[in-house]
Amino acid sequence: MSETPSIIPNPVACRLAGGAPFALAASTVVVAADPALRPTAAHLARLLGVAVAERAPAGPVVTLAVDAGLTGKLTAEGYVLTVAAGGVTIRGGGAAGVFYGMQSFRQLLPPDVERFGWRAAGGAATAPALEIEDRPRFRWRGALLDVSRHFSPIAEVKKFIDAIALHKLNTFHWHLVDDQGWRIEIKKYPKLTAVGGWRETTTRTGAEQLFDGVPHGGYYTQDEIREVVAYAAERHITVMPEIEVPGHSSAALAAYPEFGNTDAPGYAPKVQAKWAIFPETYAPKPETLRFLEDVFAEVLALFPSKFIHIGGDEAMKDQWENSPTTRAFMKANGLKDGHEMQSWFIRWLENLLAKHGRRLIGWDEIQEGGLAPGAAMMAWRDVKWAIEAARHGHDVVMAPTSHTYFDYTEGTAEEEGVPIGTQTTLERVYSFDPLPAELEPQFHARVLGAQGQLWRERMPSLPVVEFRAFPRLCALSEVVWSPVERKDFTDFRRRLVWLLARLDRLGVNYRRPRV
Ligand code: ACM
Repeated sequence: MSETPSIIPNPVACRLAGGAPFALAASTVVVAADPALRPTAAHLARLLGVAVAERAPAGPVVTLAVDAGLTGKLTAEGYVLTVAAGGVTIRGGGAAGVFYGMQSFRQLLPPDVERFGWRAAGGAATAPALEIEDRPRFRWRGALLDVSRHFSPIAEVKKFIDAIALHKLNTFHWHLVDDQGWRIEIKKYPKLTAVGGWRETTTRTGAEQLFDGVPHGGYYTQDEIREVVAYAAERHITVMPEIEVPGHSSAALAAYPEFGNTDAPGYAPKVQAKWAIFPETYAPKPETLRFLEDVFAEVLALFPSKFIHIGGDEAMKDQWENSPTTRAFMKANGLKDGHEMQSWFIRWLENLLAKHGRRLIGWDEIQEGGLAPGAAMMAWRDVKWAIEAARHGHDVVMAPTSHTYFDYTEGTAEEEGVPIGTQTTLERVYSFDPLPAELEPQFHARVLGAQGQLWRERMPSLPVVEFRAFPRLCALSEVVWSPVERKDFTDFRRRLVWLLARLDRLGVNYRRPRV
């Protein structure tokens, strides 16, 4: 371990105490009297290879405690970490704060702890004596994983969740549905996964010409979903599902064509194998709305997340405008064009979610034809949409292509061996500020935070996902957690060396940054 603590994201305040370090030993005990802290205590004890107790024994102790007195100053996600020769104390404003304090403590120990626990450094691992006071800058710190374009079984999803937990991210945006595959079991509509979960082939070239001829598919059972939600919750991560409406619905409509614009010319939905935008949209018919009510009822039963993502992006308007039935619906409801039809769907969904006590969030196209009153927006094409929405009192999350799309390569196209390249360097990600300079201070509270996107058109496996995600998610974690005054790319690069050594031990296939 270097003398200066190398924690990512950089904490708010860190004061080296200068005394003898804390020495990790086989006899170290993790103590947590509070039942709410048991998962975190178990997590830390498993990592260190030591025991957990409810009361302090003699000997070196890591004490975990919630200190409600800290909440006012540090929020429930904040913590104070004190390391001394005699023991370690992690006090959180809430259980989440304790978990984040644990992640910081972990990063004070040598990277080999990840593999060998207390046996690291020949059984002589230490953490420097210090006090850290910390809290996140933003409350939405996320990562999106697309499992439609390429599927990952839950073991991979859990590994990804562990990696984002290390970075104190708290929102896992699970992109479960798209044109190329429907990945969540819905008991009432089994064809969604039986038919919509499979495509015949996958395109393998940048020019979108060559198909591999290999069927691709898979889905999560509801039991698996519950397992992932519980796994994430123990790591203080909310799993937010995304169910795409009204566009990106080819896979669903391939399974149940009757819910689309069946009388639009050329209507022939299928599970798509190309990477593109497709004309299929849900039709505003009573049977379609019942279908969506049923699907969301099952989704809401699985995901406790307050926010539910309904997609809303890239919905083509042609089928609505070319379907006599939908055109008649639009006329009867005073909707003058496809944009207003889109807006109608979003408002209908917002109402549906509100009836269940949930909140709608969608991609920035949900403002087309008027943003539904309580809707939150995720800005991807341009932060200008978020600025406008925030000024009108809407909560927003920043996810712009300009800084947070990690399907864009980190190196140049030539370095990465890809035919076309939109490059988003580590430094560019690091430079992002979720609070746009032009947004007036009175609207800052509307910016909930930001997240990194892992769209998987060209990420067939988890190692490729990890290669694109890390270290850019390390940089993003600092964007959403650390105070602006604490941001320093040179210092980040110094600390990153230690974090990457840790990711090595965890078997994460990060991209080695250029020196
Ligand atoms: C998006 O990238 N279509 C949100």
